[in-house]
Amino acid sequence: MTRSRRPFFCGNWKLHGTIAESLALATEVRNGVATHRDADVAVAPTFTALHAVAKRLEDGPVAVSAQDCFWEDKGAFTGEVSAPQLVEAGCKYVILGHSERRQLFGELDAAVNLKARAALRAGLAPIVCVGETLAERDAGETLGRVQAQLEAALAGISATDLERVIVAYEPVWAIGTGRNATPAQAQEVHRFIRARVATLAADVAPRMRILYGGSVKPDNIGALVGQPNVDGALVGGASLEARSFAVIVKNSI
Ligand code: 13P
Repeated sequence: MTRSRRPFFCGNWKLHGTIAESLALATEVRNGVATHRDADVAVAPTFTALHAVAKRLEDGPVAVSAQDCFWEDKGAFTGEVSAPQLVEAGCKYVILGHSERRQLFGELDAAVNLKARAALRAGLAPIVCVGETLAERDAGETLGRVQAQLEAALAGISATDLERVIVAYEPVWAIGTGRNATPAQAQEVHRFIRARVATLAADVAPRMRILYGGSVKPDNIGALVGQPNVDGALVGGASLEARSFAVIVKNSI
């Protein structure tokens, strides 16, 4: 792994866990990664568990991320949660534009951009997800799709704010399928993402952390983060077991 960028690992718990279960898992994660001081680690519980988990993890090595936020701070927006509310609940990060939100809830690039800007305004670090479907990969459209998602999500964000943005490359065909991208496939897209970010902010691009996500497991993470442009991972299923998440962090640093 390129040591010029501090590795980052975020467990995306998706729609899993009661508050009690989330607290137990968070405690196990904290204990499991307590000695791994060479990486940033976060967990992303469901909205209802965020505050309790953030309290439990306060002052420790594990930060808390939300899985989404709305772009307005307040108002008549039934069902939404704003970025300032996430900060109040104890979040440092927010995952935005996850492919499940795009595919299942019709989230568009323009919404991801508005959310990223709201998150930055509130002081959160957005983890902006991009990635192609299998059909797009098979049609040779991977880089074009990733470029379109990336540039739309980051439109109008200043270089100063880009410093806080993390990008996650999550090929849709690799999420929850047990079929991860090869290290070479990940590296190709990660290098491309960094080059595109360089056209927006040349100084920021070498420092931006670009995570891989999609069927990350303890036995494949080493080769993935061994690639020069892979700076950590957004982990789904394997992050629901504290031990395997801790091993993923350990096998990477
Ligand atoms: P899996 O690790 O379960 O494939 O999920 C990846 C993901 O979507 C993380 O955000």
